This record gives sequence, structure tokens and C-alpha cells, in this order.
Amino acid sequence: MKKIPYGCQNITEDDINAVISTLKNPNITQGPKIGEFENKLAKYNGSKYAVVFSNGTAALHAAYNATGITDGDEFITTPITFAASANAGLYCGAIPKFVDIDMSTYNIDIKKLELAVSKKTKVITPVAYFGNPVNMKKVREIADKNGCYVIYDCAHAIGALYNKDKITKYADLTILSFHPVKHITTGEGGAVLTNDENLYKKLILFRSHGITKDPAIIGKNKEPWVYDMVTLGYNYRITDIQCALGCSQLERIDTILYLRNKIAKKYNEMLKNIDWITLPPSYDLNWVDDEKYNNLKNYPEFLNSYHLYPILLDKTIDREKFYNYMHENGILVQIHYKPVHTLGYYKENFGYKKGDFPIAEDFYNREVSLPMFPTLTDEDIKRVVDIIKNFK
Ligand SMILES: Cc1ncc(COP(=O)(O)O)c(C=O)c1O
Repeated sequence: MKKIPYGCQNITEDDINAVISTLKNPNITQGPKIGEFENKLAKYNGSKYAVVFSNGTAALHAAYNATGITDGDEFITTPITFAASANAGLYCGAIPKFVDIDMSTYNIDIKKLELAVSKKTKVITPVAYFGNPVNMKKVREIADKNGCYVIYDCAHAIGALYNKDKITKYADLTILSFHPVKHITTGEGGAVLTNDENLYKKLILFRSHGITKDPAIIGKNKEPWVYDMVTLGYNYRITDIQCALGCSQLERIDTILYLRNKIAKKYNEMLKNIDWITLPPSYDLNWVDDEKYNNLKNYPEFLNSYHLYPILLDKTIDREKFYNYMHENGILVQIHYKPVHTLGYYKENFGYKKGDFPIAEDFYNREVSLPMFPTLTDEDIKRVVDIIKNFK
């Protein structure tokens, strides 16, 4: 029986050739592919700068660090995200605060966010869960009123559009992940996008031990080998081999986003009459049309990047039974996510408990992520849907 995962990478011959040719270069790390990938990412995402990292979590750590958040400061994020969105704030000694989700978007509830922000809040970290972009103009207004930085976690949402706005427009720092289940992959990898030169300089230092040779920072030296360490940093570098793969994958990003939306449109149509399933919030997908495609002007004002396709089961359905049934039938559905405030570490160290964010908890209890990746065939989709229909 063919197993269908919830997500997986797509590696083409071009990708493989790009990697092989970089392996033959003198520099397989700290070489020219790093800057090339960064320039391409910045251009595609509409930001002045991109800094690539060894993974998305390192990118988040660098982003929090760049804001200057430190011991005792607070940051606010959503409970429905991967732990890394909040963990990276903890690395800087900050205190995690959560705001419940909005069931019409599955993202942080912006009205509740407005009420929750306080003088102690240094950073707001919205997450575009499943690829659904956040109303960042609103988040920016709230941040500006309260003097906060905004880190937009777009690990799920490269290329997403909200009212035509790219993911970098309103955030101080936007992060991406290139893990294999994501839209484009470098094996492991991540990036921070920013328009702010000062933040950019901090990201560069943080990525490589806080060490620099830049005479503008350490002054002019007679000796060409002299470097200095001006802040505490890490080794969060990514290799040229990985960036060669990233550059090659990024060439296909428009096709990837199109295909993910096409799959979402199919699921929306094929699952709509199952009364025990709630479909994810969706924009109008009528623009998805193979005949018109190739003309990128067809992209709509609002674009979900569809990293995931999360369905919610009715309260009467035994979710564990459904999960096991799907796996027994070769459909490797997954659950995203156990709310961060209910993770043991957060309960023990920050006093969170079940019941603190009831909407996120209800969401988690009913959520199942169906297979969603560009090489999923029509036949695969039909199989997923038929198996779902035979449940009970
Ligand atoms: C929302 C979110 N943020 C951050 C990350 C961390 O990215 P990485 O796995 O590249 O460290 C992930 C990874 O899955 C994620 O889903």
C-alpha cells in the first residue's frame, strides 16, 4: 500500500545538478551561493535584506536577539504554532505570553491581542499558521501604539499575500524555514527578512559568533587577518551546498504555490458535503485555473501559501480513532499543533495550564492535517477523500 505523508520535499534533476556543481566549487560554505540565495530571497519577498541561517529556529533566535529583548521582557505569540516560535524568545530570557486564536483565521485574535499588549511587551510574534497570512497592518498599528517590535513567523507562508501586501511589508523581521515539508527546502535552513539596516547588521554578527573583520565596526588595522568579536553570537551558518539547493528550488516557487492552492481547491470541493468536517478558512480560489495559469497577474489579492490543509472534526468524532484509521489506510495525517502553553516545559516554568486558551485547545482537540504537497496527484487526493468518506 502506497503511504501518503502529510508533507514532503520535491527534488528535481535541476536541484541535484545545482548541488553537485556547488560541491565542485572551492567554497562549500561561506562562499558565493549564500549571497546569491539571500539576494533572490530578498527580491522575491520584497525586502531590502535577507540573512540565511542553519534552520528556521536559529533565524527566530537571531530575530528575537536583534530586537534586544532580554531577561524579564515579554513577548506575545499564538498557542497554535510550533514550539520554536516561542522557544526562541526564551533563549533570550524573555517571558512568553499567549493570545488565543481567532476561529475565522486560525491565527492570533487581533482584538484580543490589542487588549493583551502591555508596557512589558517588547515583541509581538504573529504566525501565519498553515500559510494563512495575518492582517499585519493591524498588528503593526498595535505594535506602534505600544512601542513593540514585530517578528512575523512565516515558516508556513512564503509568498502569502494579504490585500496584495507581501509578508515583509509591516514586520520588522520576517522569518522563513526551509525544512523539507516546507514550500522550498535546503534540507535544514531558514532566513530572516528585514528592511532595517541596523537589524540586518545584528543578524549578520549573530550568525557567526559575533565576529567581524569590518573596519567600519572594529576600526582600521594594519594586519589583514585581524578580526574582533564585538558581541556574543553563535555558529548558525548554512552551507553553500544548501543554498545552491535553495536557489534552485526558489526558481519554482510560483508553481509550488499554485499547485498547493490547486490541491486546496480540490479538497474544498470534494469535502464540502461531509457534515462532520469543518474546512479551513479559504479565500476565493476561482483564480486557480490551469488555462489561465502562467500569467502571474492572475494571483489574487489574498493568497494562502497552504503549507498545511487543516480540517476540524466534529466534537462527536473520536479524533484518535480517525487518526489511527487514516494511518492504517496509508494516509499519514498529522496534528498541528499541541498548543504551546500546554507543553510540559511551559506549564512547569511559566504556570500555564489547560483551559487558559480554550479556543486554541478546542482547535487542537479537533484538528487533523491532510496531505498537502505539490506532487500530490489527483489520484492521491481522491484516495484521501474516499478513505475519509468511508470512516465511521
Ligand atoms: C511556525 C514555525 N515556526 C518555526 C519553525 C522552525 O523552523 P525549523 O524547523 O526550520 O527550525 C517551524 C518548523 O516547523 C514552524 O512550523
